[in-house]
Amino acid sequence: MDPSYLKSEVAKIEWFHRIDLGNGIVTPGVSTPGLNVLPKDLSGVTVLDVGAADGAYSFEAERRGAKRVLALDYYYWNRGWGSKAGFELARKALESKVEDMELDLFELTAERIGQFDLVLLMGVLHMVRHPLLALERIFSVTGSRMILQAHLDMQYCNKPVMRFYPGRELENDPEGWWSPNQPALEAMLKSAGFREIKRVWPESSLRYKLQKFRRAIVPRRKRSFLDALGQEWVVFHAWR
Ligand SMILES: C[S@@+](CC[C@H](N)C(=O)[O-])C[C@H]1O[C@@H](n2cnc3c(N)ncnc32)[C@H](O)[C@@H]1O
Repeated sequence: MDPSYLKSEVAKIEWFHRIDLGNGIVTPGVSTPGLNVLPKDLSGVTVLDVGAADGAYSFEAERRGAKRVLALDYYYWNRGWGSKAGFELARKALESKVEDMELDLFELTAERIGQFDLVLLMGVLHMVRHPLLALERIFSVTGSRMILQAHLDMQYCNKPVMRFYPGRELENDPEGWWSPNQPALEAMLKSAGFREIKRVWPESSLRYKLQKFRRAIVPRRKRSFLDALGQEWVVFHAWR
């Protein structure tokens, strides 16, 4: 695609993801730190990206050698606050073979779409009203491993608990409904069927915990001490 034409098309779209389209053209969305925790080599692997939005994870999985990638979304591609235009333009610009499917994740079944070696569920779980059911649907289409980026809350509590956000309590997002703490998330993943679960990012070291405590004492955003202490974004790997 002609770079100046691509640049003008990119400018017409409101992007969620920052995607490098080549020739110095990078879409002006947010960066995706979870990309760092994707396996470096996905040769021969089939990948399902649930809640793909503009497709940053899908295109990256393809770039890392995945033999088939299916990007799945529904709300972002069909409702007012997003669109499918970014995904479609990026796919064209990258000459990508990533497939797409418009489907609510609650409709996922192995009979409908088969199973995928690797399922990505990045930044989606807090947005669903029925998180345990969502994990069950995801488990049904996971052939081997799921990578999950999730928001945790109440991490100061060592019993499995989950916090409900009736309004905009979660980062001012009206679509944020629930965040479990780590014991609850691990128990939910096991209850959904996953056998082995590993937190891969950020590492829960003493240094990290001290940094987090320091940030809670001097919060940068308008957050209470307990919210700053108890909330974090994490990435888990879960195996079937
Ligand atoms: C915050 S965005 C995250 C996008 C991307 N996965 C990432 O991590 O950058 C959440 C995405 O999940 C999608 N989503 C939320 N609920 C969904 C559902 N029930 N079925 C399918 N997609 C859903 C939204 O449409 C949106 O694209």
